[in-house]
Amino acid sequence: MTHRIGIIGGDGIGPEVVAEAMKVVDAAGVAYTPVAFDLGGARYLRDGEVLPDADLKAIRGLDAVMLGAVGTPDVAPGVLERGLLLKLRFELDLYVNLRPFVAGPSPLNDGVDMIVVRENTEGVYAGEGGFLRKGTPHEIATQGSTNTRMGVERCVRFAFELARSRTRKHLTLVHKTNVLQFSGDLWQRVFDEVASEYDDVETGYHHVDAACIYFVQDPGRYDVVVTDNLFGDILTDLGGAVAGGIGRAASANLNPARTGPSVFEPVHGSAPDIVGTGKADPRAAIISAAMMLEFLGEDDAATRIREAVEKSDDVTSSTSEIGDAIAERVQ
Ligand code: IPM
Ligand code: MN
Repeated sequence: MTHRIGIIGGDGIGPEVVAEAMKVVDAAGVAYTPVAFDLGGARYLRDGEVLPDADLKAIRGLDAVMLGAVGTPDVAPGVLERGLLLKLRFELDLYVNLRPFVAGPSPLNDGVDMIVVRENTEGVYAGEGGFLRKGTPHEIATQGSTNTRMGVERCVRFAFELARSRTRKHLTLVHKTNVLQFSGDLWQRVFDEVASEYDDVETGYHHVDAACIYFVQDPGRYDVVVTDNLFGDILTDLGGAVAGGIGRAASANLNPARTGPSVFEPVHGSAPDIVGTGKADPRAAIISAAMMLEFLGEDDAATRIREAVEKSDDVTSSTSEIGDAIAERVQ
């Protein structure tokens, strides 16, 4: 079967790392039809479009999307992030953002083997709130956190299923229930209810601030972590940093119900400061491509790619040299 894969390079180093990821997918011998989309800062500056309906419609018909990064200093913050990235997550119902962290080459990272299940369609990202009396001394800005029982439950269930499939079978809920008395309460109740159906999964709970300490000082205590959208955003940058650098942090925005394509992207941003220098590490995008292949049922190619990336401990080579070396190893 030939997969139809959307390619959204996006901004900054996005197109550079996506090119390497697809080079590796090619080398792994996976048959696919690439469908390129001209989306991101350049498109917006040219014709004011961020994610036109026609593009969204075309994306809905695909099997998966590989995305680089979005955001450029030439465009006000939020325009592309909300209009493209978050719109894709919401419109395609990509309710799980899966972010694995496995020890990198440094001995500092020994013992890291965890995966964060970040809720990806709700929380403060949903955009509830607004301004009152904007521009006056009495200005008010509110930004609510939206948490639906359905949204929390489907994410928590996904995390329990994932924990059940892993060797350690351990799941930690991370939240801030000591302060967030409404959303925290809902998350904790749903977590406890679902836990009663998974006797084989051991559970734990950490407040998000404490989790930040453990992520750095004792990451080995985590197996699967489930958390809300904003905590997950912050924790996964930290996860990347403790697991050998954000250059290896991959992610999968999943629609587990498969009612549309899932979107695979590195955790890192567009890094406009290093565009064109060859300094961008393509490994996060390449691992994201392996996650995509796994989701598409191409387990053999995905395993070969993962193994090749594990052996790739090069820190001095350029973006394309790293891609070439990995591509050679997966053939
Ligand atoms: C991420 C990014 C996005 C997020 C931004 C670019 C909107 O930081 O994927 O982690 O906050 O989710
Ligand atoms: Mn982030």
